[in-house]
Amino acid sequence: MPGALAYHHRAITYQASSTARVLPGIRHFTRPHFYRLAPDIMDSFYKYHVFFCLNQRDPGSERPSCANCNAQAMQEHAKKRVKQLGLAGPGQVRINKAGCLDRCEEGPAVVVYPEGTWYTYVDASDIDEIVESHLANGKVVERLKIDR
Ligand code: FES
Repeated sequence: MPGALAYHHRAITYQASSTARVLPGIRHFTRPHFYRLAPDIMDSFYKYHVFFCLNQRDPGSERPSCANCNAQAMQEHAKKRVKQLGLAGPGQVRINKAGCLDRCEEGPAVVVYPEGTWYTYVDASDIDEIVESHLANGKVVERLKIDR
């Protein structure tokens, strides 16, 4: 059963099966709070948490932009496909948008946590393969991997 992160008036609680962790007196959930809770969250809140870089740089930039490779449409496609397969939601799969992941030259970039598996893609058939092989069946798609 997945854990749950909850925000109450002045505290953030994390409930995982039989234990509850409370960070009292927190008004805003900040990065340090996330890092304190990350091991629990990453272990249990989503089975796979997927981030698509959608970054768009200014024209003439020296580095490439994932947004120029149809990244937004591919992120939307992944989200739709995950829903169609019944994989979306807590304890399962979450598809999120991200800013630059700093793998620009190897992109368009996608990263799947908790393992930190990096992928690139060309089109929707590559996204389908990542969803159906990795996210649905736990089998990494070697041909699309970006080396660490
Ligand atoms: S622009 Fe996508 S990883 Fe940097």
